Amino acid sequence: MNDMLKTTPDFSTEAAAALLKEHYGLSGALSLLASERDQNFKVAAEDGSISILKIINGAEPEVESDFQTALLSHVGAHAADLPVPHIRPTLSGASLASTTSARGVTHRLRLVSWVEGLPLAETGRNDAALQSLGRMLGRFDASLKGFMHPGALRDLDWDIRHAGRSADRLHHVTSAEDRALLERFLVRFEKTVAPRLATLRAAVIHNDANDWNVLVDKVDHDTISGLIDFGDALHAPVIAEVAIAAAYAGLDHPDPIGAAAAIARGFHAEYPLAEEEVDLLFDLIAMRLVTSVTISASRRAHTDDNPYLAISERPAWTLLRKLDRMNPRFATAILRHACGFEATSGARKVAAWINANRKSLKPLLERPAATYPAALVPYGDPTHPMTVKSAGEQPDEAQAIWEDYCRAHGVELGIGPFGEERTVYAGEMFVSRFIDHTRRTRHLGLDLFMAAGTRLYTPLAATVVSVEIEKDPLGYGCLIALRHEPEGCPPFVTLWGHMAHEAMGRIKAGDRLAAGALVGEMGAPKENGGWAPHLHLQLSTDTALSATEILGVGEPQFLDVWTELFPDARTFAGIAEEFYEKKGRSHEEIVKRRKELLLPNLSISYDKPIKFVRGEGVWLIDDSGRAYLDCFNNVCHIGHAHPAVVEAMAKQAAILNTNTRYLHDNIVAYAERLTATLPKELTVAGFVNSGSEANSLALRLMRAHTGRENAITLDWSYHGTTQELIDISPYKFRRKGGKGPKPHVHVATIPDSYHAPADWPAEEHGKRFAESVAELIQAMKAKGEGPGFFIAESIPSVAGQVFLPEGYLKEVYRLVREAGGVCIADEVQVGFGRVGSHWWAFETQGVVPDVVTMGKPIGDGHPLAAVVTTREVTDSFNNGMEYFNTFGGNPVSCAVGLAVLDVIEGQDLRGNALSVGNYLIDAFRAMQTRYEVIGDVRGMGLFLGIELVTDRKTKAPATEFARAVSNGARRRGVLMGTEGPHDNILKMRPPMIFSKRDADHLLAVLEETFADVARTLG
Ligand SMILES: Cc1ncc(COP(=O)(O)O)c(C=O)c1O
Repeated sequence: MNDMLKTTPDFSTEAAAALLKEHYGLSGALSLLASERDQNFKVAAEDGSISILKIINGAEPEVESDFQTALLSHVGAHAADLPVPHIRPTLSGASLASTTSARGVTHRLRLVSWVEGLPLAETGRNDAALQSLGRMLGRFDASLKGFMHPGALRDLDWDIRHAGRSADRLHHVTSAEDRALLERFLVRFEKTVAPRLATLRAAVIHNDANDWNVLVDKVDHDTISGLIDFGDALHAPVIAEVAIAAAYAGLDHPDPIGAAAAIARGFHAEYPLAEEEVDLLFDLIAMRLVTSVTISASRRAHTDDNPYLAISERPAWTLLRKLDRMNPRFATAILRHACGFEATSGARKVAAWINANRKSLKPLLERPAATYPAALVPYGDPTHPMTVKSAGEQPDEAQAIWEDYCRAHGVELGIGPFGEERTVYAGEMFVSRFIDHTRRTRHLGLDLFMAAGTRLYTPLAATVVSVEIEKDPLGYGCLIALRHEPEGCPPFVTLWGHMAHEAMGRIKAGDRLAAGALVGEMGAPKENGGWAPHLHLQLSTDTALSATEILGVGEPQFLDVWTELFPDARTFAGIAEEFYEKKGRSHEEIVKRRKELLLPNLSISYDKPIKFVRGEGVWLIDDSGRAYLDCFNNVCHIGHAHPAVVEAMAKQAAILNTNTRYLHDNIVAYAERLTATLPKELTVAGFVNSGSEANSLALRLMRAHTGRENAITLDWSYHGTTQELIDISPYKFRRKGGKGPKPHVHVATIPDSYHAPADWPAEEHGKRFAESVAELIQAMKAKGEGPGFFIAESIPSVAGQVFLPEGYLKEVYRLVREAGGVCIADEVQVGFGRVGSHWWAFETQGVVPDVVTMGKPIGDGHPLAAVVTTREVTDSFNNGMEYFNTFGGNPVSCAVGLAVLDVIEGQDLRGNALSVGNYLIDAFRAMQTRYEVIGDVRGMGLFLGIELVTDRKTKAPATEFARAVSNGARRRGVLMGTEGPHDNILKMRPPMIFSKRDADHLLAVLEETFADVARTLG
């Protein structure tokens, strides 16, 4: 050091001008610039050029000035456009000249071009300027790739790899507290940083991008215009370049990590950094400061009077204290994110995995969260009385306000969303440790409000990480952390805050919880930190954070980062997206426009209509995100929006959709597969687009075959919407707007065993009910006529889920066929394995129809329908008239039909229908023992009915009760219907994928609803 001072050049301006003339042949105006150890003259030459003449300290080893010269030459040769000083050769063409001072000290001289701009120190360090600085450093370092020189291997205390040497200077720091602060960083450095640093790539870097060495454009202060002073250039880890620049940029900066992030982002754009490098950045920034303050302290010990040495000491200490309060993992997450990396390794995969696997997650609440009618909790509104009471530590008052709201609006679940601005958090602990004068206001968890004691279950298998009590007022109360490691997903943690203390004694760190296992209960205010009861649920993709380190609220400026570290738990908790964003028109507007634009006699279910916006498996989701368990719509046979169906449809639609006038594989493949499910006599298929069309075609087939018009149809049946089908549907022609039976239509008694005359022996029901058909045939015969056909649903549904008595169809088919008629089985509702034991419901009666009609479930919602008949009937139909159906049997519909069959067979959905159906029937029967109102329970597979009666003896219909149950179930999120002439039969036809869990959900809702209706109706 002393040597350096003695050899500091001390040339007068005139002497320097003389040297300039002598070595460079230049003259002009010279002005001396500030320098610590050399002499720098700004030269405005007469030729108009501006340069700097550097007279190098005589003590500087030659290797160093050679190194700088070589470095500048390299940059000049490979990145001539970089705004850095470029070497001007001497008159003899050399890069350096030499002179001897009056004191006899030899100095080397270098002339370099002037770089225009203001020092960054004199302008603002906003994000744009810092990012531009990062880019400049990136470009500079990139230009030095492949450059090496012995001078770059100097031993410098400023070498970030030697930051540990600061320990040797610690004793110069007088305050014990300050020493302890530095020691914390030093320990981290030695333990975890230095070993990793040693493995990172190194290259020659500038190594001192302080804001006097960085120039900004004079007009546009957001753009860096130059980089100067290569006196500290060194072969060092590349990341040190960013760390050093960030350490300077962070001085007196309100958001030092944001500043570092801007530099890193810029650098990374020009010279991509590796994750391992960015992971050390926070510590390296701190270590640069540690180096700086310890060097200052030691120099001060030697030279009290050199103000230059201490110039950045105070801000450096301030910044160090700030960094010390930060969680390095969060700072690193911000820096990683700035470079486009995941905030923590695997973070994005966790959110993606949860999304992709959401259907397999177990419900977090007793039932799937989306099934509860939910509303936003007003914590986002700081003036709302509930918020005010909560912040004022009056949880009971807050809870009372919420409960009133829930009662008035039928709400059962309150949701406090992720990302919500919560300005109410007033405590000291919500002051940002990253950004000055900033509070942490964005909610990073998901709050679920329900009653204290609400049981909470883990959606995924877990290991308990910790169970603890946080005692602070407005803290978490009982806090549980679980670790999840599902296959194919990086491990992540879930945090469960505001829990009841009962969990403390029941679970402990290390315990394994199976998916669906109880985690704990929502705590009451006295044990949950003093809040209206709720769960604060939060995910953390950083599994190294302890439960109390996980940030419950964060700075809005870093919300993107927090979103990766702590992804929104909504999907994990089972909340539907639609809860957050209502799309499309309002209910009122749709109802109004329907009235104006559509046929007025389209009916709408429920007094308060539902607007469904999405279907998924057994669920229908409305526009408020509420999920309804669909036990009614038998069209989506294998579940709503089944991926296999969607894929088959989309794939074929993207290739070709034509008609049957051209050859295509699909129609033949589908006919093969469909007929294979039927008895051997039924071999010929016709494809149409709706159940009505199928029945209409069946009527044409029948007329062609028998030449007769006479129809025998069951009372209260429905077969379709065309006039000729309305004519054979007593359900229509006997009710409002109907005109009674046409002369060719003959209505047979509905073979409803439950309502059979009491004196009929049960085993004779089939025969006895068939007598009604015999009588109709007899009457026709008496007029010299005969039946054209008999049509019946194989399980009359509209009539009230009526299961035909044994032997009924056998006897009726015999009678009809003997009289020259054909038999049509309408399987539009009941086909495709719904009964479980068989593919087709007629098979349960041991008969083979002449024509089978199919619709609804055949395409899982896609408009497809079919008729399958015998060769004999088809021969009669083939009378010369062409049969053409524009859409029937098109390649897309057939692809869909095939996909549905694949799923039914591939997943044994018939087997599922049988076992889940039997489970439900048994449970309904058990309910029957508890509820007098249940007169009869009927079902086969997943075709189910519960007949409600006011009196089990008279079997008088309990219509009001049935309606109340259907509405009550709807209110509780389960869809079912009522059927039968008196609308007193509860009708259920859930999708074939209905699981035992779904069945339990249905049963729980039914039980609750029955109890409720029984209470209110008596
Ligand atoms: C038994 C039965 N057959 C036929 C139809 C008519 O089917 P679609 O509405 O597809 O024309 C229906 C419709 O509800 C039905 O329930």
